[in-house]
Amino acid sequence: MAENKLNYNIYEESCYSLKYQERNSIDALITDPPYGIAYQNHHWDKGEKGKVPDEKIWKDSFDKLKPGGYGLVFSFPRVMHHVMKHLEESGFIIKDVLMWCYLNGMPKTRNVGLDIDKELGVESEEYGQYNYVIGYVKEGAETYKVNGKKKKKPASDLGKIYDGAGYNLKPAYEPIILVQKPIEEGLTVAQNIKKYRTGAMNLEKTRLPYSPDEDKDKVGHNPHPLGRVPANVIRSEELEDDYDKYFLISTYGNFHDQHYIEPKVRRKKDTFNMHPTVKPIKLMQHLIRLLTFENQTVLDPFMGSGSTGVACMLENRNFEGYELEQEYFKIAEQRIKNAQQKIF
Ligand SMILES: C[S@@+](CC[C@H](N)C(=O)[O-])C[C@H]1O[C@@H](n2cnc3c(N)ncnc32)[C@H](O)[C@@H]1O
Repeated sequence: MAENKLNYNIYEESCYSLKYQERNSIDALITDPPYGIAYQNHHWDKGEKGKVPDEKIWKDSFDKLKPGGYGLVFSFPRVMHHVMKHLEESGFIIKDVLMWCYLNGMPKTRNVGLDIDKELGVESEEYGQYNYVIGYVKEGAETYKVNGKKKKKPASDLGKIYDGAGYNLKPAYEPIILVQKPIEEGLTVAQNIKKYRTGAMNLEKTRLPYSPDEDKDKVGHNPHPLGRVPANVIRSEELEDDYDKYFLISTYGNFHDQHYIEPKVRRKKDTFNMHPTVKPIKLMQHLIRLLTFENQTVLDPFMGSGSTGVACMLENRNFEGYELEQEYFKIAEQRIKNAQQKIF
């Protein structure tokens, strides 16, 4: 099942056991596993017995990673403690939890005040209609239509008190767990790097360049010429405040134009990539640069539509990936091949 190319191998099968990888052969683990929350009711996100992935995958990943090698595992706030426990019990050191922040998440909630009206048998008050976005259309064209659904507000006394009350906050970040396999016993970090080329993060190559309009003389006491140190908070889309300069990851090199920057929620209707949880390439490039150096090898046991692999090709890293679902595997195969050949 393996497809051998110059610098990537992808497998259309379950990652459990990671049977194609040698012990101590992988420089970094970067993966976005099923969160185990039944996202949009996708069966592959229900996990083993409805939970996060079996911890066996982290034990296997630990075994394949070189001593001192780092890993980044995407997770979800309400299940990440299980994943962290599994990672730690598999031998990894928990180093940090990065927060990838974004704006376009919507909470799953209801207006509890209306539910109270219903419970009390009181008719809620109608006061207009909702407008819904009907999908992606070109700039300047009609973007909204009235679909007729009535806006309602609570009418009962108790309902009025609970008007707008709900169950969840707006999700505005995804946690990414940073782990490390301990360096080889008896070695210093420098000795471990000499032996395996793993043991430290590539901070210098992931600095955040100053924005063009920034006065560099005013940045800190000794501004570094390449920019600020990468932080454990990451933004991949520009917001409208002054904090961006600390967190907004940059696009590096020539191939990172906006055709390759996919936002958290896809807006293009015509993309052939139908995977529901595609990660932005710009984000994956940053993470790959952070954990590895050129020509090193990254493993993604849950590659989905292959975003980690695409970013590896753009960053001149080798890639090893698994995907169970044939439909997603084919998308990943095409995307990684295109990226390797720099076809946009
Ligand atoms: C959250 S998605 C990854 C999405 C990816 N980051 C992207 O940008 O397309 C997780 C993927 O893991 C796959 N998966 C689930 N269990 C698996 C297994 N045992 N082996 C390999 N892949 C698996 C699912 O089919 C799904 O596509």
